[in-house]
Amino acid sequence: RHRPREQWTGQTGFILSAIGSAVGLGNIWRFPGVAYDNGGGAFLVPYLVALLTAGIPILLLDYAVGHRFRGSAPAAFRRLWRRLEALGWFQVMISFVIAVYYAAVVAWALSFFVYSFDLRWGDDPAGFFTGTYLQLADVGGADSWVTLDFVPAVLVPLVLVWVVTLVVLGAGVAKGVERANVVFIPLLVVAFSILVVRSLTLDGAADGLNALFTPNWSALGDPNVWIAAYAQIFFSLSVAFGIMITYSSYRRRRSNLTSPGLVVAFANSSFEILAGIGVFAALGFLAHQQGIGVGELEGLTGPILSFVTFPAIVSQMPAGPLFGALFFGSLVIAGFTSLLSILQVVSAAFQEKFGIDRRQASLRVGVVAAVVSVLGFSTTTGLIALDTIDNWANNVGIVASAVLTCVLVVWVRREAPALRYHLNTVSTVQVGRWWYAAVGVVVPAVLGYMLISRIVTLAVDGYEGYASWYLGVFGWGTIVFLVVGAAVLTATRWRVDPDRYDAWPP
Ligand code: PHE
Ligand code: NA
Repeated sequence: RHRPREQWTGQTGFILSAIGSAVGLGNIWRFPGVAYDNGGGAFLVPYLVALLTAGIPILLLDYAVGHRFRGSAPAAFRRLWRRLEALGWFQVMISFVIAVYYAAVVAWALSFFVYSFDLRWGDDPAGFFTGTYLQLADVGGADSWVTLDFVPAVLVPLVLVWVVTLVVLGAGVAKGVERANVVFIPLLVVAFSILVVRSLTLDGAADGLNALFTPNWSALGDPNVWIAAYAQIFFSLSVAFGIMITYSSYRRRRSNLTSPGLVVAFANSSFEILAGIGVFAALGFLAHQQGIGVGELEGLTGPILSFVTFPAIVSQMPAGPLFGALFFGSLVIAGFTSLLSILQVVSAAFQEKFGIDRRQASLRVGVVAAVVSVLGFSTTTGLIALDTIDNWANNVGIVASAVLTCVLVVWVRREAPALRYHLNTVSTVQVGRWWYAAVGVVVPAVLGYMLISRIVTLAVDGYEGYASWYLGVFGWGTIVFLVVGAAVLTATRWRVDPDRYDAWPP
């Protein structure tokens, strides 16, 4: 009673979906600020080094594991080595946690897409975002840290995002995920290109570009700049948390793996640099309007960049509503296609272990995730929780997962040669021996150092001045949740023979 494994319709569908996963909020709201803070033009050096020595090598490792063992992260890792199933579940847990807050940001973008049309934020975008829209509680002050005061303006789009996501996931890999990407990714490229060209023609654009790209070469001597580059590459390429394992498991048996990997990696980086150009050109315009230097602007990173600074730009430019709609529309598409990929990780894992079909899996996983997402992030304390959980999931969770993957697969199991052979048998571009050094030495060394230094910094300095009990529960608690969740899921019984490749769902 086994049906064949789901498949992409072809290589293009896979590439577009993998690009859809990689190109996300990280490209638009993370990269420009990170580059600016870490040496500007000089940041491109560590960034490219990180891409070549860690990003692409791990991307190929993920592809090889997913394609060779043809399963979701837990199933694929288990087939590689029984005990590695737990690592797969750890990645599934990371994906789940990221999905619940990532959906909230997509929901904000959806609201702001609508608000663009009448410039709803008025003259005070900062007050509008945290006050009128998020209704952020006075944390640590008069209000408490955790409330269940729901904010309807966030709740409604958030529920909508979840409903659409579940419908697409339930429709399957080819008819749901792939179709959504085939429509949305070209649309994103067009919308974003228009946006960038428009930004470049604004007054002051050149000052913005100078601010971003003027190299501060001394930054290259700062280890934190290098760490920032590796962290950006990992998050941005969607590697080491199960996504690329899952996506490549749906490719046909004899598929070219390396060239699509390179296409995806370079598409993602191009999009990132394009976003940097567009965002900073627009910031140059804002500075020009205010008669100050770009360096004096505030709010150049994270949520504030997208939801406060950008609205301010939109308000001041001719045909602002159109520009705003393009920007927030791009954000919605970029975020939504990434959200699909991350939930597919969770859904695929449950289908395979518990022998349920994709509709049931997306319904069950999706309902749980949606409830957690709504409870946690549509309340007046949602932003703080999001910020804290994001910081731990990214800086500790993903990094730990990448280090563990490399150490266990390359050193403990010594599978690298077999995986390289697998990559090379069908692919046109051959992976050389340098790959062993990348996944076996560079990644464990750089990321191991990064992991330890981040854990120490978080333990000693805390985060954003938040109360230590709060960081204990929402920061370190996130890590405990990942580990306990992974242990419990590993311990449950397989309802389907995990060693039958190519036969999911039952
Ligand atoms: N690569 C994504 C980005 O740049 C990160 C991501 C992917 C996050 C999938 C969540 C889900 O934004
Ligand atoms: Na990205």
